[in-house]
Amino acid sequence: MAKKIVTLAGDGIGPEIMKAGLEVLATTAEKIGFEYEIDAKDFGGVAIDKEGNPLPEDTLNAAKDSDAILLAAIGHPKYNEATVRPEQGLLRLRKELGLFANIRPVKIFNQLKKLSPLKPEIIEGVDFVMVRELTGGIYFGEHTLDDDKARDVNDYNVEEITRIMKIAFETARTRGKKVTSVDKQNVLATSKLWRRVADQVALDYPDVTLEHQLVDSCAMLMITDPSRFDVIVTENLFGDILSDEASVLPGTLGVMPSASHSETGPSMYEPIHGSAPDIAGLGIANPVSMILSVAMMFKESFNLSEAAQIIENAVEKTFENGIFTKDLGGQATTKEMTQAIISNL
Ligand code: NAD
Ligand code: IPM
Ligand code: MN
Repeated sequence: MAKKIVTLAGDGIGPEIMKAGLEVLATTAEKIGFEYEIDAKDFGGVAIDKEGNPLPEDTLNAAKDSDAILLAAIGHPKYNEATVRPEQGLLRLRKELGLFANIRPVKIFNQLKKLSPLKPEIIEGVDFVMVRELTGGIYFGEHTLDDDKARDVNDYNVEEITRIMKIAFETARTRGKKVTSVDKQNVLATSKLWRRVADQVALDYPDVTLEHQLVDSCAMLMITDPSRFDVIVTENLFGDILSDEASVLPGTLGVMPSASHSETGPSMYEPIHGSAPDIAGLGIANPVSMILSVAMMFKESFNLSEAAQIIENAVEKTFENGIFTKDLGGQATTKEMTQAIISNL
């Protein structure tokens, strides 16, 4: 049976990179005989403009009913002061689908090493995975905003921390067998609980080493000694910030994909970056983050590691051929980059 893939192109560069991702998906699918159908839905700012809701019920239902979801990006400064914002749709979608486990791999392609602002000897051997808790914490606690005061509540319970810890330890088992749990245990109650649960879960994984890092010093280590990490697990807000920081290592957000998993339902795949309104419509967005998100989908939703490998190799070959978009210091347009990758598939 053909797999149902819901696509959410969204705003800004979203439609440009989604198009690129779908072209790569089509060529790869043909090569390996993968059958699928695409259901494109409105989401984010475009959906607000059409029907006043960033996550229309029709979009939510299609996502729930799918085998996998591809999201490009949402958001635009024109909604900055609006009460209904594209980002609310994204948060609601993650919550409704129970996408608690956000996996953000940080790997530096050989040809990108020279583009990193960090010294080559610091970049050497960087290969880690950020496991970000995605449906709890301060993002989903009560928010109140008055003229003279505001309040955001950070909540975590043992169950929420346990399930994300298990994902981190399971991931570490398939890799370098080391988990770095990141918290602010010297100040926050939620972090005290976080650390306690991490220690508890670690007892079931004697083959995996657990280390604790405070988020502030972890932010420093990510720049001074990034190759020390294997799997980093952290709460929603810290994970958001640290994963953008991690994009400094390959030198751009434009090559960073992600996967978000729930306990039983469909998974969602999206670049970690946003809608890049500063370059939207110029045709120069780097499509690699979206294309590598498609690769993650093949591997993690459809168990087609071979297809994922074909795509990753094609991206690597394209870099070897010296084809780079502007964020990577090159001249290639989104279309040229995508065509080059397709010809290398
Ligand atoms: P951003 O990630 O959109 O852009 C940050 C910088 O990185 C910009 O200079 C941009 O041009 C560059 N960049 C990002 N992706 C790129 C790509 N593929 N190729 C080349 N350059 C790229 O962050 P921002 O500007 O802070 O946010 C813009 C909007 O995106 C906001 O509304 C924000 O809420 C939203 N956002 C959405 C998502 C998402 O959809 N998952 C994620 C992050 C931010
Ligand atoms: C991300 C984004 C989102 C987040 C925003 C757009 C709500 O920054 O996916 O990293 O903060 O989770
Ligand atoms: Mn973010």
